[in-house]
Amino acid sequence: MANAFSDDLMGEVRARFAHVESCPFEGARVFFENAGGALTLNSAVETSAKFAAIPDNQGRANGASKALVDIIAKAKADMALMMNAKDGQFFVGESGTELLFRLIMNACLARRGQGVVLSSTLEHPASRSAAARWAEEAGLTHVLIAHDDASGTIAAQAYADAVTANTVVATIVHTSPVTGMGVDVAAVSKAIRAKAPECLIIVDGIQHAAHGAIDLAAYDVDGYVISPYKMFSRHGYGLAWMSPVLEAVAHNALDGGPALNWEMGTRDTGAYATLSDVCGYLEWLGGETGATGRREQIVAAGEAIHAQEKALTDAMIDGVGNLAGLREMPRVTMLGGADNDAREGLVSLTIEGMPAVDVVEALNAQGIRTHLRKADHYSGNVLDPLGLDGCARVSMCHYNSVSEVAQFLAVMKDLAG
Ligand SMILES: Cc1ncc(COP(=O)(O)O)c(C=O)c1O
Repeated sequence: MANAFSDDLMGEVRARFAHVESCPFEGARVFFENAGGALTLNSAVETSAKFAAIPDNQGRANGASKALVDIIAKAKADMALMMNAKDGQFFVGESGTELLFRLIMNACLARRGQGVVLSSTLEHPASRSAAARWAEEAGLTHVLIAHDDASGTIAAQAYADAVTANTVVATIVHTSPVTGMGVDVAAVSKAIRAKAPECLIIVDGIQHAAHGAIDLAAYDVDGYVISPYKMFSRHGYGLAWMSPVLEAVAHNALDGGPALNWEMGTRDTGAYATLSDVCGYLEWLGGETGATGRREQIVAAGEAIHAQEKALTDAMIDGVGNLAGLREMPRVTMLGGADNDAREGLVSLTIEGMPAVDVVEALNAQGIRTHLRKADHYSGNVLDPLGLDGCARVSMCHYNSVSEVAQFLAVMKDLAG
């Protein structure tokens, strides 16, 4: 098993991120906690510091203010390119969770009393809770479709079976942060629109964003939300895209202000500017694979990221050199099974006879950072039906290497061998 990237490219990729090999608090470690927050681009760190020092506000008649407005406009254009949005608008809010709540709330209120809000049990509580609360407030019926426990995902057919002509709002999670399995958003939205063409469809792209290209034109949805700290930028804000239909619904805004403005007060220009850094990084990565043209490079970067992450999860499951993979460890169970094409860089596992909390602690003690998912309000939707009270989530990204997977397997051999 080898990296999908050449050694040179692996080195160049890793050089572009902060804290790749060691943590400022705990020292050397392998970072397999990317689903909790991906590594940050060095360029995003520099950009953040630069803009943190600028006192000026947007919308003033001076050069600094005009520069800030231009930088925000460029970041929005870069996001349209990066996510292939042909229309609609991008805006930033407090967090991914806040934006999901805001989009879902306004979608429900816009369709008050008209029918059904359709969600699935695979979703993070951010979208499920928003749909449950605002369906009730808006006199709509909230219907939850059960996901498939065995594969850890949900098929378009499950939405096709549940959707009706009076489905007015639907929510979809692009990738589960517990199982790591992706959902075919384009197929789900097609299934929904076959019976409910006007349905407002809102997608939680937070876990998916770091793992491959986003193609809003192909999805045919109305809202898409990401958390930039999970896509190589930094903490402190969320990013949403809305279709022309969704951006036009009633929403909180200043009286007399621009009708389509969804932003709440003064923007952090630095937050926007780091999004251009993320776009630039993907263009560079795609260019390294030989692609030319900005969108082509982003698509190529998505494919390269997927290939490297598949190399990593294959190595973890099937072994590296003479180190056995998880598949060969009889006490290990992987959520979603060992062979699953929907997997996006993440393996959640249990070890028979060892509480998941102890697995995560033992790995951490050996310098492998993973995360405990408990059957609580975040992950109970996936873990309870499997009869699990917890699992260890091992989440990787394309800048991780097969040699880091080997370090993980060496520890797992002692824990589960
Ligand atoms: C799929 C998904 N949705 C929503 C969230 C919440 O994101 P945030 O805490 O950035 O608001 C997460 C965070 O892990 C997630 O993975």
